[in-house]
Amino acid sequence: MADRIAEEKIDRIRQTVDIVEIISDYVQLKKQGRNYFGLCPFHGESTPSFSVSPDKQIFHCFGCGAGGNVFSFLMELEGISFQEAAIKLASKVNIDLEINLSAAHGEKKVSKEFQAMHDAHELLQKFYHHLLVNTKEGQHALEYLLERGFTRESIDKFQIGYSLNSWDFVYKFLSKRDFSPEWLEKAGLIIRRERDGNYFDRFRDRIMFPIHDRNGKTIAFSGRSLGHDEPKYLNSPETAIFNKSKILYNYHLARPSIKKMQHAVLFEGFADCIAADRSGVENGIATMGTSLTDEHIALLRQSVQSVTICYDSDKAGIEAAFRAGNHLNNAGFQIKVAMMADGLDPDEYIKKKGPEKFRNEVIGASLTWMAFKFLYFRRGKNLQIEGDRLAYIEVIIKEISKLDKAVERDHYLRQLAAEFSLSLDALNQQQKQMFFAEKRASAGKKEPVNKPVLIAKQVNKLKPAHITAERRLIAHMLKNRDVAYKVQDLLAGQMFNNDEHQAIITYLLGFYEEHEEPDSSAFLTYIQDGNLRRMVANIEMMSINDELSNQELTDYIKQVLNYPKLLKIKEKEVELKEAELQGEFSRAAEIGNEINQLRKSL
Ligand code: UTP
Ligand code: MN
Repeated sequence: MADRIAEEKIDRIRQTVDIVEIISDYVQLKKQGRNYFGLCPFHGESTPSFSVSPDKQIFHCFGCGAGGNVFSFLMELEGISFQEAAIKLASKVNIDLEINLSAAHGEKKVSKEFQAMHDAHELLQKFYHHLLVNTKEGQHALEYLLERGFTRESIDKFQIGYSLNSWDFVYKFLSKRDFSPEWLEKAGLIIRRERDGNYFDRFRDRIMFPIHDRNGKTIAFSGRSLGHDEPKYLNSPETAIFNKSKILYNYHLARPSIKKMQHAVLFEGFADCIAADRSGVENGIATMGTSLTDEHIALLRQSVQSVTICYDSDKAGIEAAFRAGNHLNNAGFQIKVAMMADGLDPDEYIKKKGPEKFRNEVIGASLTWMAFKFLYFRRGKNLQIEGDRLAYIEVIIKEISKLDKAVERDHYLRQLAAEFSLSLDALNQQQKQMFFAEKRASAGKKEPVNKPVLIAKQVNKLKPAHITAERRLIAHMLKNRDVAYKVQDLLAGQMFNNDEHQAIITYLLGFYEEHEEPDSSAFLTYIQDGNLRRMVANIEMMSINDELSNQELTDYIKQVLNYPKLLKIKEKEVELKEAELQGEFSRAAEIGNEINQLRKSL
């Protein structure tokens, strides 16, 4: 078996795979004309500037400049190598690569040890589960769970288990199976005691919740104490395969229903997530005791744009919901917030009031983001008191000013007017004043935008004529091999003025030596340089006429050829001024002649 993937296999993958289908696993795409648009997975944005062309099998983001073909999409998004991306795609379309996979995965040693970490987790998960459901040692743990309302069905579905009350059971169990202690320690499953160098188990006498990655691989555990032992939940430490701030509990199981419903429910704890699942809310996910991070949001955005936050309804939970909501709102998500009476958490609520009430009166009755804010800002205020009332009205108008849609602003202003018997006109007026005051204030401040967005926008803005001409020529050359050679002839040895443009056409002519037909996606694989690849994807997405008329062609070529001359003329004009100032009149006349010659040649 070969270690490298054959060229023809790569071509087959490219011809078989559909970029729209692959990207749809990560980005919600909507068709608009010939292309698809969605929110870019490479940078935070709230209006879609990420586009995919099914005809060309490429993607490009007008916001941050990311771009490429299906291979580079996976490489950049998942941080994997070209080989790994190819392997992934091949398995999706059932192409046998006929290669030695372990060699293809790069450094053998590292992947072997990663594999061992995964295997150890997998094995332990099964064993913990067995201990819980089948053994006398686990009986008290099983009773605890059943008493809390967990069903046998969900204990199986979430592979919940029990870790024995022993200091070295896991250590011995896994060592016997040839797992090295160093790597078990690195995987966070055992701990090395400083004093004598002995190893002991991290999890003892706890209910074990396995944590899975997006592909369903077990990468960590969280163990809940049965009594009042602290901490209540003991988590695996951060390891090479586990990073809490990137993991959403239950993501792999919930994803199909999240995609189907186009909606996710976000919980604070996994007990809540599991209880909700038991109640028929299968699109639930949970953070693991951390607040919602950018990485979580990026992961969510790959499947969904609409989220119900269902946190504990105590003070801390409401504050956390407000923070998470703002974070999601800034990232362009549609948000709702589910609330429960009496400061309950979802798990307690379900146990007390039943699944049906939870579905209908909590999830089904969740508040819009704005309605939640009405409640949020009301807490701790006594609206009978004039001062509190005015302060409250002012905050709410400020929030209303942030809404994009006039209809929504009107709706909430009316609500406010009705509640406090105020005149709608007055509220409208104050809202406008606030809106403009905010605008003025934020105009002074620097916009907190992503760097790439800023750069890409500037690049798009300041394009001199010769650069536009070069881009248009390249766009036509990419579409038509004959045009590529024709342009090459017309340039008669002169280079494009922009170095990157020149590099692109050098690559392109090389590509046409080997390929009869243009192929956008294949060309992107042919280009080795990521920066050039993004640039080509950008040019590919430019709209140009199908045919390049002779008039258009000569115009563009002229722009390209004239630019160095125009620079030269500018240079000479400076020299001319200098000569005149120095009183060197004959030299000035000479330079004047040269300038005239150059002008004529334009
Ligand atoms: P909660 O304290 O709300 O726990 O923590 P819970 O979900 O209601 O759990 P039960 O019902 O008491 O069993 C919410 C989340 O915070 C993390 C866990 O991920 C938990 O699911 N957490 C909590 C920890 O990591 N460590 C802790 O000691 C406590
Ligand atoms: Mn709870």
